Amino acid sequence: MIGEALAHDSAWLHVSGSARYVDDLPEPPGTLYAALGMSSEAAAKVLALDLDPVRSAPGVVKVIAAADIPGINCIGPVVPDEPTFATNEVRFHGQPLFAVAATSVELARRAARLARVHYERRNAVVTVDDALERKDFVLPTLEVTRGDPAATARSENLVEGTLRCGGQEHFYLEGQVALAIPGDRGEMLVHSSTQHPTEIQHLVAAALGLPDAAVTVELRRLGGGFGGKETQAAVYAVAAALLARATGRPVKLRVDRDDDMRGTGKRHDFLYRYRAGFDGRGRIEALDLMLASRCGLSADLSSAVNDRAVFHCDNAYFLPHIHIVSHRCRTDTVSSTAFRGFGGPQGMFAIEGVVAAIARRLDIDALDVRKQNLYGAAPRNDRSEYRQRRRAVREFNAHSPHFKRGLALTPVKFGISFTAIPMNQAGALVHIYTDGSVHLNHGGTEMGQGLFIKVAQIVAAELGIDLGRVHLTPTSTAKVPNTSPTAASSGTDTNGEAARAACRELKNRLAAYCAKRWGVQASEVRFADNRVSAGNQSLGFHELAREAFLDRIPLSATGYWRTPEIHFARARFQGEPFFYFAYGAAVSEVAIDRHTGESRLLRADLLHDVGRSLNPAIDRGQIEGGFIQGMGWLTMEELYWDERGELKTHAPSTYKIPVAGDCPPQFNVWLWERGENVREVAYRSKAVGEPPLMLALSVFHAIYDAIGATSISREAVPLVAPATPENILKAIHALG
Ligand code: MTE
Ligand code: HPA
Ligand code: MOS
Repeated sequence: MIGEALAHDSAWLHVSGSARYVDDLPEPPGTLYAALGMSSEAAAKVLALDLDPVRSAPGVVKVIAAADIPGINCIGPVVPDEPTFATNEVRFHGQPLFAVAATSVELARRAARLARVHYERRNAVVTVDDALERKDFVLPTLEVTRGDPAATARSENLVEGTLRCGGQEHFYLEGQVALAIPGDRGEMLVHSSTQHPTEIQHLVAAALGLPDAAVTVELRRLGGGFGGKETQAAVYAVAAALLARATGRPVKLRVDRDDDMRGTGKRHDFLYRYRAGFDGRGRIEALDLMLASRCGLSADLSSAVNDRAVFHCDNAYFLPHIHIVSHRCRTDTVSSTAFRGFGGPQGMFAIEGVVAAIARRLDIDALDVRKQNLYGAAPRNDRSEYRQRRRAVREFNAHSPHFKRGLALTPVKFGISFTAIPMNQAGALVHIYTDGSVHLNHGGTEMGQGLFIKVAQIVAAELGIDLGRVHLTPTSTAKVPNTSPTAASSGTDTNGEAARAACRELKNRLAAYCAKRWGVQASEVRFADNRVSAGNQSLGFHELAREAFLDRIPLSATGYWRTPEIHFARARFQGEPFFYFAYGAAVSEVAIDRHTGESRLLRADLLHDVGRSLNPAIDRGQIEGGFIQGMGWLTMEELYWDERGELKTHAPSTYKIPVAGDCPPQFNVWLWERGENVREVAYRSKAVGEPPLMLALSVFHAIYDAIGATSISREAVPLVAPATPENILKAIHALG
């Protein structure tokens, strides 16, 4: 069962449409429907907010704004710098000003548009460049040095340049949604599509002026999160809870796609400036790197995201001397947030751009520069046939003036653990019922990534019972308290180990019971094949459950786990923040049309290290999905804010994510067979949720390579991400 390629526990429910998400739950009688009233300016003083037309609209039951909040008007998760409802000023287009509850979704949404708001507009700071120029930052600039910060001055060869990568919309299939149900004495139950139920609990309690214990947050699954529901579910849950309290009725708030895209944070886009010194073979001697990201109006998770960009700007390369400056730019846009990789992809994007520039300057294959710089010994085994294909690509390009091919191999090294040390802990709750069935609960949230089945596999293996006996139950702050978000790819490690700890506690009790009953040592008692045995004594697991209960043995246990050994002193930016690393490498081959700028991924070969896989079917899905999502970020997903700070790409009509047809016709995915976690965690498997996204850097660099083939220049290819047809054409023309 450990290591078996089992289908996702809800696969059948997903494909048959019977998996229940928050919006599918049966609505309690009297449920009202909510909508948010949002700012139509990105940067303005609010001179007057007249909600009378909203109140008198058909079907409206209640309208609330900041002044109606009994507790605190704040949803800032780390820094208390973002209001639930804006008051005197608005800081992004789409910022919530008030909320309305009505008798139908349609009536609530119509009413929300009727507010009369008087604004005094100021010029919006929209881009990283604007913010940099004004030195407008949401958080202090971080400067990190290793070795000699002035070392670039001594190198004989230098490349300097600017790089850019775009942001990314999460485009989870299930949009943001919450259902708040009031209970006795002001208590509140909130069903929320969130990766972080505990944070929602805290923010709802603070808004309502209640103790945390009066608020319960529950969910069975999310229809995708990708980081977009690590903090960004809050405003919806808080608004629904406030309206539920004000009306005494259940309130559901589900936003439509356009408002979701306008109203929620995205991946940070970055601007970089680099100066790298290297030797004649392309080995990097010293690097000066400036990173600047668009953080939006508030801090949100930007500190940790930008820190992770800094952690990963070495990717898999040894950089002896490095000087990093990381700016966290404040802009009048929605607050940027977690997105699969959490700054890691943006850090790696920078160094891969530097490596590619060095290769062009030296006129050698970028792979050779990469190999010069890898940590440790060089890789030995090439199943992607890179070298033959490099020759074939050269040959093809020599005879093809119109289409050009490109090839790139890029590595990934991704650190596993929350860089905020206190977040690396988890809890679980396991009950055995007297029929031998097992109720499994833990602090993690299921968002499609397969966390629940992996933890269930661990529990079934630990108790020696069939997987079918383990029942997966909704995540609830009432069952496992004080949880971390399901993020940083660590869900299986932390929750799986917590669940294992609970199982071991139960086994200890049951083994002691058997030992007494059978006159054997507790250490002789074995749990396997749905039986519990020692010597020639044996009972079915369900029989033992029943008999232990009759003998008054408690059959419920909590489990807890914290990641050992990690430590990190942020003030000095020193320590070992990661429990271990996940590794991978990918080769991508593309073709571009030099006259239209279109590109196509022809073949991808992915080799990824998941340790000893707990479930190769789930892991393969994570690798394929992560890679394609990364390809979307780097090749087609383009966010566009106009100069007034209005997001123009707020629907699938203008924002393109990859679809099945964008998968390469040749798509090879290998789990590294010899993979084995150096750490004793989750049966020596490795976290897989985020790392494969970064394998898509190979697609971007294959396009880079193909553009390079259109020119005899040895300059860096000025390709910015995403490599849309427009950006590809710009790069071809600029290269000359
Ligand atoms: N896979 C699916 N299908 N849906 C998701 O929302 N989120 C990703 C990744 N894989 C996601 C996903 C992100 S951002 C993270 S951090 C991890 O899953 C979180 O889950 P884990 O810790 O259980 O891997
Ligand atoms: N990853 C995801 N979420 C986080 C992290 C991280 O490293 N740190 C704080 N929140
Ligand atoms: Mo994932 S970005 O850590 O939710």
